[in-house]
Amino acid sequence: MNLLLLGSGGREHAMAWKMKQSPLLTNLYIAPGNAGTAAVGTNVTIQTEDFAAIKQFVLNHNIGMVVVGPEAPLVAGITDFFEADSDICHIPVIGPSKEGATLEGSKDYAKAFMMRHNIPTAGYLCVDRNNIEEGIAYLTTLEAPYVLKADGLAAGKGVLIIDNLEEAQSELRAMLGGKFGSASAKVVIEEFLSGIELSVFALTDGKDYVLLPEAKDYKRIGDGDTGLNTGGMGAVSPVPFADAAFMKKVEETIVKPTIDGLHKEQINFKGFVFFGLINCDGTPKTIEYNVRMGDPETEAVMMRIESDLVALFQSTANGTLGNQTIKISNDFAVTVMLVSGGYPGDYEKGKEISGREYTLSRRYSGKRRQSSYRRWSGDIRKFGSQNKE
Ligand code: AMP
Ligand code: GLY
Repeated sequence: MNLLLLGSGGREHAMAWKMKQSPLLTNLYIAPGNAGTAAVGTNVTIQTEDFAAIKQFVLNHNIGMVVVGPEAPLVAGITDFFEADSDICHIPVIGPSKEGATLEGSKDYAKAFMMRHNIPTAGYLCVDRNNIEEGIAYLTTLEAPYVLKADGLAAGKGVLIIDNLEEAQSELRAMLGGKFGSASAKVVIEEFLSGIELSVFALTDGKDYVLLPEAKDYKRIGDGDTGLNTGGMGAVSPVPFADAAFMKKVEETIVKPTIDGLHKEQINFKGFVFFGLINCDGTPKTIEYNVRMGDPETEAVMMRIESDLVALFQSTANGTLGNQTIKISNDFAVTVMLVSGGYPGDYEKGKEISGREYTLSRRYSGKRRQSSYRRWSGDIRKFGSQNKE
């Protein structure tokens, strides 16, 4: 089968690397891709939201499945676009419908969904220009710090955590006044949750699901988790505190009720659900949903999936994930981002990265284990390993 993967990040590189290992794959195309994906498949200069160009490419290259990496084309309705067009409606898209993508595209929608399905999350109130005063009053009922979230997608910048009540109240007015454009026409005010965060991923056909390895990303620029927030400096999988008992709670109180909720509400969702969770004294709570894999988590997660990812996608498309199991390795995987000096502020672009091959050794299960690492497009991934006495 020929496959088209949409996206251009490290996440798509890691997914392409994993898909490439499948015997079910003939040709892999990535649109628009990056220097890393070019080493695994063929990059195509089509933007992820240019649905007309994607359709043409899919028809011209006999594509059997489209896998969507980032959220933007999903929120823009790529899955519905395919389903509504008789030329391409037979080609499965791995990624939810526009309605399913609203779980990421609208925080108000996501919170209301969680409430309907009793999924543990922070208490909240959603306000718009018509009930600003209710929002101002709600803030006084909460303890600092105060969490304000733009309802819509705001390029990862729409969440403010503020220590001072007056400042939170004035920020609320600023957000509703257009601080994040139309994304903050509605604002979700949330109770602050204290704990350590982790990312849990499920692949679902809308009825059943398989759980992928969990991961934890690190967003601060500096050593020891300090400094400015970034798009993610690295990730680890597995997550040390996410033991079997904790993950059982995650699955029973969050993952299963979410997938059952999608099914009950007949929301067309064949794709990834990314649960942004927080461990509140042993109780997992949901901070957010995303409808895609995380970055930089994917680069660590793909390393630990032993099953054929393309076969899992086929079952997702056919609605037969209930018959599938997923094999996960006990290895530890780490993503480390190498970035240009100055990031996340002003930084120089277009620099060539050299010195990509090197080896590391470490102690593992009483055996000396040697792993070879290769760096692609600015991040480092374990590429293969073998046990050595
Ligand atoms: P979100 O876009 O909803 O994931 O929020 C971005 C980040 O803000 C999260 O990864 C958390 O670190 C933090 N955050 C969001 N909501 C809360 C909350 N209710 N309590 C504490 N931290 C939060
Ligand atoms: N690593 C967080 C995200 O992908 O949204």
